[in-house]
Amino acid sequence: MKYSNDNEQKCNIAIFASGTGSNFINIYNHILDGKIFANINILISNNPNCKAIEFAKKNKINYKIINKFRLSNNENIEKVIGKVLIKNNINLIVLAGYMKKIPKQIIELYPRKILNIHPALLPKFGGKGFYGIKVHEAVINSGEKSTGITIHFVDNDYDTGDIIYQKEVDVLENDSAVSLSKRVLELEHKSYPVVVKEFCDKYRKELN
Ligand code: GAR
Repeated sequence: MKYSNDNEQKCNIAIFASGTGSNFINIYNHILDGKIFANINILISNNPNCKAIEFAKKNKINYKIINKFRLSNNENIEKVIGKVLIKNNINLIVLAGYMKKIPKQIIELYPRKILNIHPALLPKFGGKGFYGIKVHEAVINSGEKSTGITIHFVDNDYDTGDIIYQKEVDVLENDSAVSLSKRVLELEHKSYPVVVKEFCDKYRKELN
């Protein structure tokens, strides 16, 4: 289904990303193509030199870099993030390779409105230190025959929030962490927009 450009209120999304940003760019393209009824109001990153920020600059997407080095004396991360989210009327937060913990205050401000994607079948290969390629290295070293993706709500711990969606990927005999990561990422790109779209459609029904 493609959405027409009508006057209905769209779901305002904040994307959080620290790295390449392929999930961010993929969701952005789905919105641009009219497949998700939403706006990306802001990209938040801790990493000024990441590809996600580069893409935002090129495509004139509003962005904000928030990290401890950029705070003034009387500021803290949670207050700055909270202010940016409120100022941008955010309804949904989408973590897309964001490598920092979301402060408790932000989780309280957005209950069950913060989504994360993880490149494994949680609760396996999740928790502090399991991110990006490290997850796939651990899967290969464990000898598991399958892995996958998990999309879940974010709670106060790493990778422990309620699971919304999971899908399996076979680990092939000659897989390296890199080859496996590519197939897992492909599945992320198919799945994350579907879940984000569902959330935005639900929001649309409630509001309009
Ligand atoms: C993705 O594989 C995502 O699942 C993973 O980081 C990668 C980001 O890729 N997230 C985690 O490991 C979270 N614990 P991207 O920057 O190309 O979207």
